[in-house]
Amino acid sequence: MSKTAEPQTRSLSSRQRCPQASGLECLAPLVRSAEETPDPIPTTIEGTIPPWINGSFLRNGPGKFEFGTDRYTHWFDGMAMMHRFHIREGNVTYSSRFLRSDSFVENSEKNRIVVSEFGTLAMPDPCKNIFARFLSRFQTPKPTDNANVNFVKYKGDYYVSTETKYMRRVNPQSLETKEKVDWSQYIAVNSASAHPHYDRDGSTYNMGNSYSRSGFFYNIIRVPPPEEKAAMEDSADLSGANVICSIPAADPRKPSYFHSFVMSENYIVFVEQPIKIDLLKFMLYKIQGKSFSKVMTWEPQHATIFHLVNRHTGKKSEVKYYTGPMFTLHQINAFEDSEFLVMDMCCGGDGELIGEFTLENLRRNSGEEIDEFYNSLCRNLPRRYVLPLSVDEQTPADENLVTLHNCKATARMTKPGEVYMTHEELHNDELLQFGGLEFPQINYHQFNGRPYRYFYSCGFGHVFSDSLLKMDVHTKELKAWRYPGLYPSEPVFVASPKATEEDDGVVLSVIITPREEKSTFLLVLDAKTFSELGRAEVPVNIPYGTHGVFNEMG
Ligand SMILES: [Fe+2]
Repeated sequence: MSKTAEPQTRSLSSRQRCPQASGLECLAPLVRSAEETPDPIPTTIEGTIPPWINGSFLRNGPGKFEFGTDRYTHWFDGMAMMHRFHIREGNVTYSSRFLRSDSFVENSEKNRIVVSEFGTLAMPDPCKNIFARFLSRFQTPKPTDNANVNFVKYKGDYYVSTETKYMRRVNPQSLETKEKVDWSQYIAVNSASAHPHYDRDGSTYNMGNSYSRSGFFYNIIRVPPPEEKAAMEDSADLSGANVICSIPAADPRKPSYFHSFVMSENYIVFVEQPIKIDLLKFMLYKIQGKSFSKVMTWEPQHATIFHLVNRHTGKKSEVKYYTGPMFTLHQINAFEDSEFLVMDMCCGGDGELIGEFTLENLRRNSGEEIDEFYNSLCRNLPRRYVLPLSVDEQTPADENLVTLHNCKATARMTKPGEVYMTHEELHNDELLQFGGLEFPQINYHQFNGRPYRYFYSCGFGHVFSDSLLKMDVHTKELKAWRYPGLYPSEPVFVASPKATEEDDGVVLSVIITPREEKSTFLLVLDAKTFSELGRAEVPVNIPYGTHGVFNEMG
């Protein structure tokens, strides 16, 4: 297939389309170390928390940025802090704990940083790249178990996860740290992503890398549902996990970075994007103790390849689906519609502008200093791609194969077995005023892998998200929650028990602020109207976090 990306019908990048900011405020207080609150404390309720919400909103993220006089340089290096908002009968309590990872324990004992993290290596010139954590997949012998990205579930057990081969099992009620789990003890992978997908049969799908003499592979992993007997035992259990498909990297010396993938009723799609890691350089730099900042590269001379895999058979489609160069972190959803697979994701067109999320950058002063950093960042906008599923030797060349009603995405067979796609924008210009969006969430339980209408996300009018957004993908109508000085976390949807419509329920988000006169709170929005139902104010500081989940088991 052609290695050269075809020109796309876009004249301006997503960053150029969004307005430049000026006079932004300093966000340093949002990346300050916090104290843990292991025993649940009460919150002050304003408005009404619907009494039907019963469970815990769990969030993860970096929460400690120094030991003694040693300081981390990169935001992702911060020690994992777990937060729990326990909601019951209209009341909310808050608690938090640091993950007792090996890194945390060893650093605490020595009162200095003795374990390398993604951007703070035990050598000069720490890595400065946003994707530095990915490099830990190649670091030997000791990848980190500082799992500060997400809460994930396998066989009914909760774990915290990053992107290395380690996870930590945790107690979702007490936030106690349990055993360390090593993926490579179960299957031949060297890592697993922090964004698995959950099938309605109880199994979990994920993707992880493997590399050996035979090459570099992106692997699709399936962990089966729990067995009844095993579910009673209090120990980590990934038994029965297997690799259902291994996809060789287009260039084994330069594999692509990935952060998530999509899953429909029958398929998984893996996007191989032109954000590359030069493995030879990596090994060389490691030996020389040099900076890794040049190891991750944006290589727009390459196309973006979509690998379509039947998740029941593990069979990869022979068809090569591809589009122009783009950058994506978070996928929104995918579903099948007649003979098509529709997939939605947050994308940027200019991968060279991926920010360096060092603590130095994040703590820049208000005004010009922080404006300059924000204005240099890539903006992500939602896109829809459509993959025609029945492509064969009868398929006509150079004809738009997408016949879905009202769909502007296209797919053309450029030569036998190769299909070039262009996307439909899943937004109107109104979104540009919010700086694009990221951290997409849907009514996952009912609509993941199925036709859907709404997604919720964070708008990025600042370096950290400064609005909550609800997008109707049918009409592209936008609803927004945005107030000066308030910085919301990823919104998580919780369906009401009597839900009849997709957006019957609430959206939960933790709101933090660098302003002393404002407070931190759990926000509860009516998912349908996007208006505030209530909030639970917390008398402690919470740092800016990564991902979270709602645990209806309490
Ligand atoms: Fe993520």
